[in-house]
Amino acid sequence: MLETRNLVHRFAGGFQGLSDVNARFPFDELLVVTGENGAGKSLLARHLTGLMRPTSGAVLLDGTDIKRLGVRLHSEVGLVFQEAEHQVIGQTVREDLAFGPLQRGVPHDRAMHLVDQTLQRFRLQPHADAEPHTLSGGELRRLAVAGVAIVGTRYVILDEPFSSLDPRGVSDVLQTILQLRADRCGVMVITHELEKVLAHADRLVILSHGGVAADDTPAALLDRLRRHGLRRPAGRIEEMTWLD
Ligand SMILES: Nc1ncnc2c1ncn2[C@@H]1O[C@H](COP(=O)(O)OP(=O)(O)OP(=O)(O)O)[C@@H](O)[C@H]1O
Ligand SMILES: [Mg+2]
Repeated sequence: MLETRNLVHRFAGGFQGLSDVNARFPFDELLVVTGENGAGKSLLARHLTGLMRPTSGAVLLDGTDIKRLGVRLHSEVGLVFQEAEHQVIGQTVREDLAFGPLQRGVPHDRAMHLVDQTLQRFRLQPHADAEPHTLSGGELRRLAVAGVAIVGTRYVILDEPFSSLDPRGVSDVLQTILQLRADRCGVMVITHELEKVLAHADRLVILSHGGVAADDTPAALLDRLRRHGLRRPAGRIEEMTWLD
Protein backbone atom coordinates (compact mmCIF):
# COMPACT_ATOMS: atom_id res chain seq x y z
CA MET A 1 0.00 0.00 0.00
CA LEU A 2 1.00 3.56 -0.67
CA GLU A 3 0.33 6.05 2.13
CA THR A 4 1.21 9.49 3.39
CA ARG A 5 2.18 10.25 6.99
CA ASN A 6 1.76 13.83 8.16
CA LEU A 7 2.82 14.99 4.72
CA VAL A 8 3.60 18.71 4.61
CA HIS A 9 4.77 20.73 1.62
CA ARG A 10 5.74 24.35 2.24
CA PHE A 11 6.89 26.41 -0.73
CA ALA A 12 9.86 28.73 -0.52
CA GLY A 13 7.58 31.76 -0.10
CA GLY A 14 5.99 30.13 2.94
CA PHE A 15 2.72 28.99 1.33
CA GLN A 16 1.67 25.58 2.57
CA GLY A 17 0.59 23.50 -0.45
CA LEU A 18 -0.03 20.37 1.62
CA SER A 19 -0.66 20.40 5.34
CA ASP A 20 -0.52 17.25 7.38
CA VAL A 21 -1.97 14.84 4.84
CA ASN A 22 -2.62 11.36 6.22
CA ALA A 23 -4.17 9.09 3.63
CA ARG A 24 -3.94 5.52 2.40
CA PHE A 25 -3.86 4.42 -1.21
CA PRO A 26 -4.32 0.65 -1.40
CA PHE A 27 -3.50 -1.23 -4.60
CA ASP A 28 -6.94 -2.78 -4.91
CA GLU A 29 -9.20 0.15 -5.52
CA LEU A 30 -10.16 2.88 -7.92
CA LEU A 31 -9.90 6.13 -6.02
CA VAL A 32 -11.21 9.45 -7.26
CA VAL A 33 -9.59 12.60 -5.86
CA THR A 34 -11.30 15.93 -6.34
CA GLY A 35 -11.12 19.45 -4.90
CA GLU A 36 -11.09 23.08 -5.92
CA ASN A 37 -8.37 24.59 -8.12
CA GLY A 38 -5.26 24.93 -6.01
CA ALA A 39 -6.42 22.40 -3.39
CA GLY A 40 -3.16 20.45 -3.75
CA LYS A 41 -4.22 17.53 -5.95
CA SER A 42 -1.39 17.71 -8.48
CA LEU A 43 1.09 18.46 -5.71
CA LEU A 44 -0.03 15.32 -3.87
CA ALA A 45 0.38 13.31 -7.09
CA ARG A 46 3.95 14.61 -7.42
CA HIS A 47 4.74 13.59 -3.86
CA LEU A 48 3.29 10.11 -4.31
CA THR A 49 5.55 9.60 -7.33
CA GLY A 50 8.65 10.99 -5.65
CA LEU A 51 8.90 14.07 -7.87
CA MET A 52 8.77 16.34 -4.80
CA ARG A 53 10.49 16.18 -1.43
CA PRO A 54 8.26 16.64 1.65
CA THR A 55 9.00 19.59 3.91
CA SER A 56 8.13 17.15 6.69
CA GLY A 57 6.33 13.84 6.96
CA ALA A 58 6.71 11.07 4.41
CA VAL A 59 5.25 8.94 1.67
CA LEU A 60 5.51 5.23 2.41
CA LEU A 61 5.32 2.28 0.03
CA ASP A 62 4.58 -0.94 1.89
CA GLY A 63 5.94 0.77 5.00
CA THR A 64 9.20 2.02 3.46
CA ASP A 65 9.88 5.72 3.00
CA ILE A 66 9.94 6.21 -0.78
CA LYS A 67 13.03 8.38 -0.57
CA ARG A 68 14.90 5.14 0.24
CA LEU A 69 13.58 3.43 -2.91
CA GLY A 70 15.22 5.72 -5.47
CA VAL A 71 14.40 4.91 -9.09
CA ARG A 72 12.75 1.63 -8.02
CA LEU A 73 9.72 3.73 -7.12
CA HIS A 74 9.08 4.44 -10.82
CA SER A 75 8.47 0.74 -11.42
CA GLU A 76 5.86 0.70 -8.65
CA VAL A 77 3.96 3.98 -8.95
CA GLY A 78 3.33 5.80 -12.24
CA LEU A 79 1.93 9.23 -13.01
CA VAL A 80 0.10 10.26 -16.16
CA PHE A 81 0.34 14.03 -16.44
CA GLN A 82 -2.54 16.18 -17.58
CA GLU A 83 -0.48 17.14 -20.63
CA ALA A 84 0.13 13.61 -21.90
CA GLU A 85 2.37 14.86 -24.73
CA HIS A 86 4.97 15.90 -22.12
CA GLN A 87 5.73 12.31 -21.27
CA VAL A 88 5.90 10.88 -24.76
CA ILE A 89 9.50 10.56 -25.90
CA GLY A 90 9.75 7.96 -28.67
CA GLN A 91 9.80 8.67 -32.42
CA THR A 92 7.03 6.11 -32.87
CA VAL A 93 4.37 4.66 -30.57
CA ARG A 94 6.21 1.33 -30.50
CA GLU A 95 9.51 2.99 -29.66
CA ASP A 96 7.90 5.08 -26.96
CA LEU A 97 6.46 1.99 -25.27
CA ALA A 98 9.78 0.14 -25.51
CA PHE A 99 11.64 2.92 -23.72
CA GLY A 100 10.53 2.03 -20.16
CA PRO A 101 11.38 -1.69 -20.26
CA LEU A 102 14.69 -1.16 -22.15
CA GLN A 103 15.77 1.51 -19.72
CA ARG A 104 15.12 -0.92 -16.88
CA GLY A 105 17.40 -3.50 -18.48
CA VAL A 106 14.72 -5.81 -19.91
CA PRO A 107 16.38 -7.80 -22.75
CA HIS A 108 15.43 -6.57 -26.25
CA ASP A 109 13.34 -9.61 -27.31
CA ARG A 110 11.40 -9.64 -24.08
CA ALA A 111 10.84 -5.87 -24.33
CA MET A 112 9.47 -6.21 -27.88
CA HIS A 113 7.13 -8.96 -26.70
CA LEU A 114 5.91 -6.69 -23.89
CA VAL A 115 5.39 -3.86 -26.38
CA ASP A 116 3.23 -6.09 -28.61
CA GLN A 117 1.18 -7.22 -25.62
CA THR A 118 0.72 -3.64 -24.47
CA LEU A 119 -0.24 -2.37 -27.93
CA GLN A 120 -2.95 -5.02 -27.91
CA ARG A 121 -4.07 -4.38 -24.37
CA PHE A 122 -4.49 -0.64 -24.92
CA ARG A 123 -5.83 -1.01 -28.47
CA LEU A 124 -2.92 0.90 -29.95
CA GLN A 125 -1.87 -1.67 -32.61
CA PRO A 126 -3.24 0.42 -35.50
CA HIS A 127 -0.95 3.25 -34.40
CA ALA A 128 2.13 1.18 -33.58
CA ASP A 129 4.34 2.84 -36.20
CA ALA A 130 2.77 6.29 -36.06
CA GLU A 131 4.65 9.29 -34.74
CA PRO A 132 3.10 10.09 -31.33
CA HIS A 133 2.44 13.74 -32.23
CA THR A 134 0.04 12.58 -34.96
CA LEU A 135 -2.23 10.80 -32.44
CA SER A 136 -5.49 12.34 -31.27
CA GLY A 137 -5.74 13.62 -27.69
CA GLY A 138 -7.48 10.46 -26.53
CA GLU A 139 -5.03 8.13 -28.27
CA LEU A 140 -2.12 10.09 -26.86
CA ARG A 141 -3.47 9.79 -23.34
CA ARG A 142 -3.95 6.04 -23.85
CA LEU A 143 -0.33 5.87 -24.96
CA ALA A 144 0.77 7.76 -21.85
CA VAL A 145 -1.16 5.32 -19.63
CA ALA A 146 0.24 2.36 -21.57
CA GLY A 147 3.77 3.75 -21.16
CA VAL A 148 3.29 3.72 -17.38
CA ALA A 149 1.53 0.34 -17.30
CA ILE A 150 4.15 -1.46 -19.42
CA VAL A 151 6.71 -1.31 -16.63
CA GLY A 152 4.26 -3.22 -14.41
CA THR A 153 3.51 -0.49 -11.90
CA ARG A 154 1.22 -1.46 -9.06
CA TYR A 155 -0.35 1.98 -8.84
CA VAL A 156 -1.21 4.51 -11.53
CA ILE A 157 -2.18 8.13 -10.89
CA LEU A 158 -3.96 10.02 -13.67
CA ASP A 159 -4.11 13.80 -13.33
CA GLU A 160 -7.20 15.19 -15.08
CA PRO A 161 -7.34 12.32 -17.60
CA PHE A 162 -10.58 13.48 -19.25
CA SER A 163 -9.68 17.09 -19.96
CA SER A 164 -10.17 18.17 -23.57
CA LEU A 165 -11.44 14.75 -24.68
CA ASP A 166 -14.65 14.19 -26.63
CA PRO A 167 -17.12 11.55 -25.36
CA ARG A 168 -15.42 8.80 -27.37
CA GLY A 169 -12.02 9.83 -25.98
CA VAL A 170 -13.39 9.86 -22.42
CA SER A 171 -14.91 6.42 -22.92
CA ASP A 172 -11.61 5.10 -24.30
CA VAL A 173 -9.63 6.42 -21.35
CA LEU A 174 -12.26 5.08 -18.93
CA GLN A 175 -11.94 1.67 -20.52
CA THR A 176 -8.18 1.89 -20.11
CA ILE A 177 -8.62 2.76 -16.44
CA LEU A 178 -11.01 -0.13 -15.85
CA GLN A 179 -8.58 -2.45 -17.64
CA LEU A 180 -5.84 -1.43 -15.22
CA ARG A 181 -8.15 -2.16 -12.31
CA ALA A 182 -9.07 -5.55 -13.77
CA ASP A 183 -5.33 -6.26 -14.00
CA ARG A 184 -5.08 -5.57 -10.26
CA CYS A 185 -3.40 -2.22 -10.48
CA GLY A 186 -4.48 0.48 -8.03
CA VAL A 187 -5.74 3.61 -9.78
CA MET A 188 -6.13 7.22 -8.64
CA VAL A 189 -8.11 9.51 -10.91
CA ILE A 190 -7.70 13.19 -10.11
CA THR A 191 -10.62 15.05 -11.68
CA HIS A 192 -13.20 17.79 -11.51
CA GLU A 193 -15.42 15.77 -13.82
CA LEU A 194 -17.04 13.42 -11.33
CA GLU A 195 -20.00 12.73 -13.62
CA LYS A 196 -17.66 10.88 -15.98
CA VAL A 197 -16.16 8.36 -13.56
CA LEU A 198 -17.74 8.26 -10.10
CA ALA A 199 -19.88 5.20 -10.93
CA HIS A 200 -16.65 3.16 -11.00
CA ALA A 201 -15.01 4.61 -7.88
CA ASP A 202 -14.54 2.59 -4.71
CA ARG A 203 -13.62 5.70 -2.74
CA LEU A 204 -13.68 9.47 -3.04
CA VAL A 205 -11.23 11.89 -1.43
CA ILE A 206 -11.93 15.61 -1.32
CA LEU A 207 -8.88 17.82 -0.92
CA SER A 208 -9.29 21.36 0.34
CA HIS A 209 -6.59 23.93 1.08
CA GLY A 210 -3.87 21.30 1.10
CA GLY A 211 -5.63 18.91 3.45
CA VAL A 212 -7.97 15.92 3.25
CA ALA A 213 -11.43 17.38 3.86
CA ALA A 214 -13.28 14.09 3.34
CA ASP A 215 -12.40 10.48 2.58
CA ASP A 216 -15.26 8.03 2.16
CA THR A 217 -17.41 6.15 -0.32
CA PRO A 218 -18.85 8.23 -3.18
CA ALA A 219 -22.36 7.62 -1.82
CA ALA A 220 -21.41 9.00 1.58
CA LEU A 221 -19.84 12.15 0.15
CA LEU A 222 -22.11 13.05 -2.74
CA ASP A 223 -24.21 15.48 -0.77
CA ARG A 224 -21.18 17.02 0.92
CA LEU A 225 -19.51 18.21 -2.28
CA ARG A 226 -21.17 21.62 -2.21
CA ARG A 227 -19.78 22.57 1.16
CA HIS A 228 -16.31 22.13 -0.32
CA GLY A 229 -17.07 24.47 -3.20
CA LEU A 230 -17.74 21.60 -5.60
CA ARG A 231 -20.69 20.74 -7.76
CA ARG A 232 -22.80 17.68 -7.11
CA PRO A 233 -23.38 15.98 -10.45
CA ALA A 234 -27.05 15.39 -11.20
CA GLY A 235 -28.55 11.95 -10.91
CA ARG A 236 -27.60 8.69 -9.28
CA ILE A 237 -24.01 7.54 -8.76
CA GLU A 238 -24.51 4.52 -11.05
CA GLU A 239 -25.21 6.97 -13.87
CA MET A 240 -21.97 8.87 -13.36
CA THR A 241 -20.01 7.25 -16.15
CA TRP A 242 -19.22 8.11 -19.73
CA LEU A 243 -18.36 4.55 -20.61
CA ASP A 244 -20.02 3.68 -23.93
N1 LIG B 1 6.21 26.93 -6.84
C1 LIG B 1 5.16 27.29 -6.12
N2 LIG B 1 5.23 28.27 -5.21
C2 LIG B 1 4.17 28.63 -4.46
N3 LIG B 1 2.97 28.03 -4.55
C3 LIG B 1 2.83 27.05 -5.45
C4 LIG B 1 3.91 26.63 -6.28
N4 LIG B 1 3.47 25.61 -7.07
C5 LIG B 1 2.18 25.42 -6.74
N5 LIG B 1 1.78 26.28 -5.78
C6 LIG B 1 0.46 26.37 -5.14
O1 LIG B 1 0.14 25.12 -4.55
C7 LIG B 1 -1.26 24.94 -4.52
C8 LIG B 1 -1.59 23.55 -4.97
O2 LIG B 1 -1.37 23.45 -6.36
P1 LIG B 1 -1.85 22.17 -7.19
O3 LIG B 1 -1.26 22.30 -8.55
O4 LIG B 1 -1.58 20.94 -6.44
O5 LIG B 1 -3.43 22.41 -7.24
P2 LIG B 1 -4.54 21.45 -7.86
O6 LIG B 1 -5.41 20.98 -6.75
O7 LIG B 1 -3.91 20.43 -8.72
O8 LIG B 1 -5.39 22.50 -8.72
P3 LIG B 1 -6.05 22.36 -10.20
O9 LIG B 1 -7.43 21.83 -9.97
O10 LIG B 1 -6.12 23.78 -10.65
O11 LIG B 1 -5.18 21.51 -11.06
C9 LIG B 1 -1.83 26.06 -5.40
O12 LIG B 1 -2.41 27.03 -4.57
C10 LIG B 1 -0.64 26.61 -6.13
O13 LIG B 1 -0.79 27.98 -6.41
MG1 LIG C 1 -3.84 20.09 -10.77
